[in-house]
Amino acid sequence: MSAAARLLRGTVVSFRPGEDPAPDVREDGAVVLRDGLIEAVGDWAEIGPRAAAAGLPSDDWRGKLILPGFVDPHIHFPQAQATAVHAEALLDWLARGAFPEEARFADPEHGRAIAPRFFDALIAHGTTTACAFCTSHPASVEAFFAEALRREMRMLGGKVLMDRGAPDALLDTPERAHDETEALIARWRGRGRLGYAVAPRFALTSTPAQLEVAGALVAAHPDCLVQTHLSENRAEIAEAARLFPEARDYTDVYARFGLLGPRSLMGHCIHLSDREAAAMAEAGAVAVWCPTSNLFLGSGLFDRARLSAAGVRVAVATDIGGGTAWGLPSTLGAAHSVTQLLGQRLHPFEAFRLATLGGAEALGLADRIGRVAPGFEADLVVLDPAATPQARLRAERAETLADRLFLVSTLGDDRTVAETYVAGAPRKRRAAA
Ligand code: GUN
Ligand code: ZN
Repeated sequence: MSAAARLLRGTVVSFRPGEDPAPDVREDGAVVLRDGLIEAVGDWAEIGPRAAAAGLPSDDWRGKLILPGFVDPHIHFPQAQATAVHAEALLDWLARGAFPEEARFADPEHGRAIAPRFFDALIAHGTTTACAFCTSHPASVEAFFAEALRREMRMLGGKVLMDRGAPDALLDTPERAHDETEALIARWRGRGRLGYAVAPRFALTSTPAQLEVAGALVAAHPDCLVQTHLSENRAEIAEAARLFPEARDYTDVYARFGLLGPRSLMGHCIHLSDREAAAMAEAGAVAVWCPTSNLFLGSGLFDRARLSAAGVRVAVATDIGGGTAWGLPSTLGAAHSVTQLLGQRLHPFEAFRLATLGGAEALGLADRIGRVAPGFEADLVVLDPAATPQARLRAERAETLADRLFLVSTLGDDRTVAETYVAGAPRKRRAAA
């Protein structure tokens, strides 16, 4: 029996490709993990006793929920210490919260010190895949990928490109943006489970010459993702219009440099016009909803119903450190509140689908992560809806699976995550021990 095999027992919940948000559920389910992949999923009675008799080490999670690990498609690695900074809206928060923290990553030692704590935080909250902005310093990307590789995680990230509109300590040039990104792609892409995202920060911090470089990088590496920010804040939008007078609107700034496509993750998208929404839909770009960040920075309310009706792909993310929650479940709780304010609805199944398979789809990885299904990578989270005394009070009255998931997204935090499996190995309790 392979030492890299494991048997789990619990309620298995996995979302399906396609429109139907209802998950596949096995109340008393079993999952067999082997060599980093999911080998089998079934009812316990069907496969559990045989696997147990074969001597597989097993984890008994009866009463708890086994889901695909959470996917966070928009997070800032160098902002782990820029959460909870009291500031005005986006531009003030960037100047006083984010940029000073990011400047510290000029020192490679700082990135190496933060990286283990960053990944511990992800695992504590059940996140097994993320797409992260690093800083403009290549050393920050080195620290990010080296730690992700050491932990065998499926992680994406990239050097932020910014050559104006920020302190000098954070600026590169179009040439450096090109050369450093090329070198980082060559060094990290495809190692272990790592992928690269070309990351022009946003229109306010890149010259046209740098956006041209970003577009050329994407054209040269079509397997890479693009991550940026779009239409988050009114003052930002006005400044983008001033800096790019030839563009039809903010979305067009990116489109004209070849940065709007099916592998583009556009953070926020709160104030898009109908034309911009249509352009996003036409391009197949993803609008990444970051509800805790949007509330914290007062950016506005993401209109999921409107964007979905326009055919725009939608994902959900934490946006740490503008965001206030590291966990996808709490992020879904905030998403629910936003939909309430807009008179819309977000069913718990839709919400948890967004945080798992939906994230995988946004990252173009839905063939390998985001489901508890044979052949998929063994990245899983175990949720205990009754992890705290207050949650237990409600859990006693939560009758359906939707009730229990909604409880997790409303009252849950890292204590709700009983375990996080990465490539088939339990990583949360071991890290905490
Ligand atoms: N726009 C440009 N950079 C950032 C950032 O770091 N966080 C957020 N929320 N918005 C941005
Ligand atoms: Zn962001």
